[in-house]
Amino acid sequence: MESLYEETLERYRKFVMPTYAPKILFVRGQGTRLWDADGREYLDFATGISVCNLGHCHKGVTSAIQKQAETLVHVSNLYMNGVMPRLAEKLIENCFDGVVFFCNSGAEANEGMFKFARKIGNKSGRNEIISMDNSFHGRTLATLAATGRAKYRKGFEPDMPGFKQVPFNDFDALKGAITPKTCAVVLEPVQGEGGVLPANREYLQKVRSLCDEKNILLLFDEVQCGTGRIGTRYAWQSFGVEPDALSMAKAIANGLPMGALIVKRKYAETLTVGTHASTFGGTPLVSAAALAVQEAFDRENVLENCQLTGEYLRENLAQIGQKYPFVKEVRGMGLMIGVVLDREAATLAGLCLKQNLVVLTAGETVLRLLPPLNLTRAEADEGLKRIGVALEELNSIIQKG
Ligand SMILES: Cc1ncc(COP(=O)(O)O)c(C=O)c1O
Repeated sequence: MESLYEETLERYRKFVMPTYAPKILFVRGQGTRLWDADGREYLDFATGISVCNLGHCHKGVTSAIQKQAETLVHVSNLYMNGVMPRLAEKLIENCFDGVVFFCNSGAEANEGMFKFARKIGNKSGRNEIISMDNSFHGRTLATLAATGRAKYRKGFEPDMPGFKQVPFNDFDALKGAITPKTCAVVLEPVQGEGGVLPANREYLQKVRSLCDEKNILLLFDEVQCGTGRIGTRYAWQSFGVEPDALSMAKAIANGLPMGALIVKRKYAETLTVGTHASTFGGTPLVSAAALAVQEAFDRENVLENCQLTGEYLRENLAQIGQKYPFVKEVRGMGLMIGVVLDREAATLAGLCLKQNLVVLTAGETVLRLLPPLNLTRAEADEGLKRIGVALEELNSIIQKG
């Protein structure tokens, strides 16, 4: 008899478009743990790529979903629902004063942000957006054009016009690239897919001043590094630099799909009735889950834990890494952590998985760790132990040549 794994793999291969090549079948999650179809237990240091930031099946979020699913799931934005404006209020309460547009994904939030920037820029004949090398903003045509890695655009030409890239953390390069057509600069405060690379604080401050001086919008893509991931509710708060608008998604509803665009109040009348829309944006169901996430941030000491446990993990990883010349650096902020190698990180990620530790890679050479923000010390130690074993195994492979 075929196992559930084999049966699922066969069905997947036959009916699912092969844009991914998954190798594990997870059937259950609880907190920091995942279980596969054969009952194997894993420690999850990936959280579905910074989505389940409060861990799997968080009690508050699950019960909010259950309650809302029995009450009202969707009505369309042609009507109000009571939950979404409460969520918007809560998001703004902890951010700069502004207004929120809800959608379903990071790419969609960025699309909205680019439309917002063009709508403002076009008033003065400006429609070009500058983004960063090695950035990642999504897989739609506009977000691909903004993404600073040409390989993602290959085969989908022509590129959407109006975007160009400059090296990240290089103020002079950015300054030199600004033209009378520039309407906005977009960047990830901590680059995620590109290799877990934080912006330099002074650089960001200088970029803010430059944008003010030239009347250019500063846009932050906080899709991966926002929602508490680096130890503050919004990534900009870790740098003390306010953008004019920011996009977020991934962890807002701890696993239900939601994206959001927040713009400063002075720009509240930019995207108005008939200029932008999304059928599913801010449904009562997803909004209820997102509100529960916000409540958990209020009550469960999530941010402080993220900062402290993040520091603990990074320090210990750096110490373990010292033993191995192929580990070049440990970097990141909060619980967004990159272990930079002098070689491809995929082998190390595979060895971690062998230790039942779910991890990610970023760029080609970075092992990326995105554990839940409520990770305990004991779980951090467990993760460190498994990474230690994986590093030792990689070392033996390298020694053997
Ligand atoms: C910084 C950043 N922006 C945008 C996106 C795209 O988000 P989504 O896959 O939800 O469209 C991602 C996804 O990894 C991301 O990391």
